[in-house]
Amino acid sequence: MFDTTPIAPTDNKPVFYRELDQQLASLFEGEHDAVANAANMSALLFMAMPELNWAGFYFLPEGKDVLVVGPFQGKPACVRIPIGKGVCGTAVARRETILVADVHAFPGHIACDAASQSELVVPLIRDGKVLGVLDLDSPRAGRFDADDQAGIERLVARYLDSLAG
Ligand code: SME
Repeated sequence: MFDTTPIAPTDNKPVFYRELDQQLASLFEGEHDAVANAANMSALLFMAMPELNWAGFYFLPEGKDVLVVGPFQGKPACVRIPIGKGVCGTAVARRETILVADVHAFPGHIACDAASQSELVVPLIRDGKVLGVLDLDSPRAGRFDADDQAGIERLVARYLDSLAG
């Protein structure tokens, strides 16, 4: 059994993400399966991060141009998102992280859960190929800042490293 130690409440986000990264490393130890690690990573993020209403993955099947929902925590979500649509599809098209402080101000935002007010989407890029995205939603506008972006990008890098082997 994997025993997650609750991370002590802290306002220091870099410290918080360093601890989360260590927990993720233990969670992935010896496991390279993309779905298994995405499932456990979604569970860990949803459990450890305050003010989230959705945390999970969309995967881009090889040779396709539509994202398909993968492992997640939160309410049932839209299954398919074309590249270039919504925040997730835009992150894939631009091949970069998108931080949305107010989803109502993002043209084309796809509302899977009406509670979502802000969103952070990090593309999964391995060997130059986009494999999908990690999507985090919050019921609080402005929930994510540059420290969250840096922290989550580091965790995504850890996830991508876990696939090797
Ligand atoms: N809001 C996303 C859709 C996915 S859900 O938030 C889980 C988007 O605009 O791409």
